[in-house]
Amino acid sequence: MELIIPASVRAEHEALYRELAAATREAGRIGEAARAVAELLQPHFITEESLALPPLALLAPLARGERISGASAVTAMTDKLRGELPRLFAEHRAIAAAAQKLAEAAKGSGDGTHLGLAEKIASHARAEEEVFYPAAILVGEYLKAAL
Ligand SMILES: [Fe+2]
Ligand SMILES: [Fe+2]
Repeated sequence: MELIIPASVRAEHEALYRELAAATREAGRIGEAARAVAELLQPHFITEESLALPPLALLAPLARGERISGASAVTAMTDKLRGELPRLFAEHRAIAAAAQKLAEAAKGSGDGTHLGLAEKIASHARAEEEVFYPAAILVGEYLKAAL
């Protein structure tokens, strides 16, 4: 079974990325701070999109009671995700610190365009830590139990 990241989750990454990309093109402190965020966020998103988010594709079919083929590839992924959690959490802290600097630069500029971006990034990371990562790991554990 092909694991396609749920559209709503993918859309959130894309929206954050688009908004951040616009900020990186700003001159001065905002652009500088946004580029520092992007440098951290880009590899982080790549890890998530290869490891943490694809298993979420199985939540809906599993909840409907459907049989899943290729479970071992998924459990390999979720086992790897479990091992990567400390690194992903540490990356969230580094990204939040960089995003905070972006928020300060945005506040100082008097232009509110990028003011909400840091909070959006932080709330995205909270949702991942509280819901998405545990859900992905539970998908793997459920598949192991069902085998
Ligand atoms: Fe993410
Ligand atoms: Fe994240």
